[in-house]
Amino acid sequence: MGMRVTDLAKELEMTVGELTKALEDLGVPVPGPAAIIDADTAQAVREMFGKAPADKKVAEIAPGATVKDLATAMGLSASDVQKKLMSMGVLAAVNQRLSPDAARKLAGIYGFQVKIKLEQKPEAGGDGTAVAKPKPKHKAPGGGTQPRPPVVTIMGHVDHGKTTLLDAIRKTNVVEGEFGGITQHIGAYQVEVEHEGEKRKITFLDTPGHAAFTAMRARGASVTDIAILVVAADDGIMPQTVEAINHAKAAEVPIIVAINKIDKPDANPDRIKTQLTEYELVPREYGGETETVPVSAKAKTGIDDLLENILFQADLMELKADPHAAKPQGVIVEAKQEVGRGPVATVLVQQGTLRVGDNVVCGLAHGKIRAMMNERGERLNKALPAMPVEITGLSIVPAAGEKLEVVKDERTARQLAEQRAETQRANRLSSAHRMTLEDVARRIREGEAQELKVIVKADVQGSVEAVIGQLKQIRIDEVRLRVIHSGVGNIGENDVTLAASTDAIVIGFNVRADGPAQAAAEREHIDIRTFNIIYELTDAVERAMKGMLAPIFEEVALGKAVVRQRFQTPKGIVIAGSYVTEGKIVRNAQARLVRGGETLHTGKIDSLKHIKEDVREMAQGYECGIVVADLVDVKVDDVIECFEMKQVERK
Ligand code: GTP
Ligand code: MG
Repeated sequence: MGMRVTDLAKELEMTVGELTKALEDLGVPVPGPAAIIDADTAQAVREMFGKAPADKKVAEIAPGATVKDLATAMGLSASDVQKKLMSMGVLAAVNQRLSPDAARKLAGIYGFQVKIKLEQKPEAGGDGTAVAKPKPKHKAPGGGTQPRPPVVTIMGHVDHGKTTLLDAIRKTNVVEGEFGGITQHIGAYQVEVEHEGEKRKITFLDTPGHAAFTAMRARGASVTDIAILVVAADDGIMPQTVEAINHAKAAEVPIIVAINKIDKPDANPDRIKTQLTEYELVPREYGGETETVPVSAKAKTGIDDLLENILFQADLMELKADPHAAKPQGVIVEAKQEVGRGPVATVLVQQGTLRVGDNVVCGLAHGKIRAMMNERGERLNKALPAMPVEITGLSIVPAAGEKLEVVKDERTARQLAEQRAETQRANRLSSAHRMTLEDVARRIREGEAQELKVIVKADVQGSVEAVIGQLKQIRIDEVRLRVIHSGVGNIGENDVTLAASTDAIVIGFNVRADGPAQAAAEREHIDIRTFNIIYELTDAVERAMKGMLAPIFEEVALGKAVVRQRFQTPKGIVIAGSYVTEGKIVRNAQARLVRGGETLHTGKIDSLKHIKEDVREMAQGYECGIVVADLVDVKVDDVIECFEMKQVERK
């Protein structure tokens, strides 16, 4: 006879999270709070935790101590301890770090009690209560790290009920009218729930979808701890569901599936579970590790179960932050310009405590926090880790995903922001490409990369499969091809942001990139390649994988001007006073001087002036003074052709 993890945890007076962690350290996987463990294991755990003699010796170790450290602290040899672990089915290297629970457990076997230096983690109370988790509100003694609420993002296909589910969670957990204020949208909010007799907080990010999620990640902000995948039970896994799965997987964020709309007569949760297995999300009932929770956002059923699962997952992750960190830090969830308030940003605090009056720098924005508010419109003076707050006082509207840092004074904040703006300008000039097929080729050639990551979009499911099938047949030694995501339809912004965050390139077959996708590709320097012939597609990829792809440049005509007058400065610089007859003349572009159909000189346009002003470009119908590098021989009626060299796709 086995027993439920929750029951054993109660018996041992510990939290489910702690027990699960301990079991997993022992090599016993625990897929969920309702998981059954066999009687032998339960007995073993009881002996470890329950029947510890009172007069234990003490082994003092630092947080993050290794197997070896602990062995030394107990006066034993590391290899003996390792052997002991092996006999228990745990393969651990001597320099493997031990979680506090694992250390405690391991020491327990040798009759030692572990004392962890520096870390102020309260021990299980002797009064029969569960281990008290210090609330973030409490002052942490001496600046040790503290548990923090999990940050959860809800993802899923259009109309599957993400917003309704968020509302249901909020309504079930916020006493309406309690604060008298109107709940306003700040892009993130916290709920407080009862869990194992404790009040626990969960932070939800109310993002408009995975685009925002991945846009944040593309900026290096890993904000989300857990992803909730909403799938409508009457509809099943749809393209955006797959996209969400791939985005969450790329972020290595655990996924909990909420099977929604189970109140509907045609709801079929089992079908969803079967479908999930196709995406490596094998439900626990099917022997996998994915937690699926049936809910109805409309009827508000299953919500508590979902929250329970979130907290269970959060406990496993041992999420921590230091509310007393010397340098408080947060990340922008969303931001906008508001009349009368200026730039308004929702910040999720990640470390330290954010306070009104703090001087901050955030991307290119800087400022002093003027006011702080939660989603209920209540004014706050400070915000703790995992708390979302709306702030005012920034100089400009920052981008979602931007890091917000507290600095010592206003001057530092301004200087940092200015420095960043400067660097950004410089980078833009050098226009460093993040990832193109050519880059991949170069990196492969130079032995830097062993993997080509792609996102495949095609017109119909059949062609998606065909393209992937063909790509998988390309075999190049030591270079792997990985399909990060695939789907039907035009290339969208989501695809580009996902590519940006994973260093992938986007391949389209019989589809095009929509406007926002093109803009994003430009911004993020992502290569989008579209093909109509499968052979060309596989050829391009194969060449890149072989590291053979040298860039091809092609001339793109920009405009023409006719010379009307020749000037020469006292320093000998020749200026061609010209009239633009076609297109435009662009400074820094290439120019060719043509006389009677013959090209006499080619060089860069060093200077371009209109009247006496320097201009970047001059359009058709205007007069301008053109200086072409090393050009001296200029005559009236000569033609100046302006063009640029552009890297083009290989045919
Ligand atoms: P987008 O924001 O457009 O991507 O959609 P969404 O995922 O936020 O879906 P939303 O919450 O707007 O719900 C879409 C529709 O499904 C609405 O008409 C909801 O009333 C309905 N709906 C959501 N949850 C349930 C549910 O549990 N049961 C039933 N019967 N209907 C639901
Ligand atoms: Mg919605």
